[in-house]
Amino acid sequence: MKKVFVFIGSQKGKASNTAGLTQKILDNAVNSLQGTQEELKIDFYTAKDVNIKSCKSCLNCFNNGFCPLDKTDDMAMLKAKMLEADFIILGSPVYAHNVSGDMKKFIDRISNWTHLMKLAGKAGIIVSTTLSNGNMFVLDYLYKIMSYLGIKVVGKFSANIIDYINQDIQISQKEISNYASTLADYIQGKRIVSSDDYLERLFNVMKQNAIQQKAYNGQEYLHWKESGYLDYYSFDELLQHVSSKVV
Ligand SMILES: Cc1cc2nc3c(=O)[nH]c(=O)nc-3n(C[C@H](O)[C@H](O)[C@H](O)COP(=O)(O)O)c2cc1C
Repeated sequence: MKKVFVFIGSQKGKASNTAGLTQKILDNAVNSLQGTQEELKIDFYTAKDVNIKSCKSCLNCFNNGFCPLDKTDDMAMLKAKMLEADFIILGSPVYAHNVSGDMKKFIDRISNWTHLMKLAGKAGIIVSTTLSNGNMFVLDYLYKIMSYLGIKVVGKFSANIIDYINQDIQISQKEISNYASTLADYIQGKRIVSSDDYLERLFNVMKQNAIQQKAYNGQEYLHWKESGYLDYYSFDELLQHVSSKVV
C-alpha cells in the first residue's frame, strides 16, 4: 500500500479552495488506479483539523534534534505521517502574496528538517490558489522548501479562483488530470524519483555544512552520519539507496 500525505494551510478545512482542488487531483488519481493492484492511503489534513503551535524560537530542533512543542500539539503525529508517506502534497492559499500563516507555522516547525534532506526519496506536488494574483511567490517558496526537505517536486499547480468561478475550468480540469496521472504514475512505480541539478546543489551544500559540525558532534553531522548520507557522493547515489523505501 502506498501512502500520500497532504497538508493544506487553510482554516476553511474541506471547504477550502486549495483543499477542494487538491481533493480533485486525489479523486482523479484514485480513479485511474482502480483496476490496478495499487491501494492508496491518503492522510489529508488542513490547518483546521490539527493543532500546530507557533515556533518559540528556542532553537532546540537545530541544537538538540527535537522540538519540545511536539509533545503538546499535533506536530509529532504529522511528522510521523510525513516520514511514512511515499508522496507529499503541500497546498497553500495566497495571502498577501505569500503562503498562509498556517502554512508558514507548519514549515517553521520542520525547519531543522530543511538542513537534513529528511524527506529524501519522496516525490511531491505543490498546490496554491489565489483570487487573482500572487501565486508565483507561493509556488517558488514551497518549491524551495520541499526541495530542501529532499522531496522531488513533480508538479506545481496553481489556480486562479476568479477564472475557476467564471467557469474557465477547462484548463484546470486538464491540469487536474495531468497532476493526477503524474501522482498515479509515481504510486504505480511507472515513474521513479530522480535527482536534478537543484537537488544535487542542495545535497552538496548541506553535506558540507554537516561535515563542518563534525568537531563537536553537531546534530546535523550526527543525522548525516547515522542516516548514511555522508557516504554518498551525490543525491542521485542517495536516491539509489533509499529507493527501496519509496515510490
Ligand atoms: C488574508 C487574505 C489575504 C489574501 N491575499 C490575496 C492576494 O494577495 N492575492 C490574491 O489574489 N488573493 C488573495 N486572497 C484570496 C485567497 O488567496 C483565495 O481566496 C484562496 O483561494 C483562498 O484559499 P482557501 O479557500 O484554500 O483558504 C487573500 C485571502 C485572504 C483571506
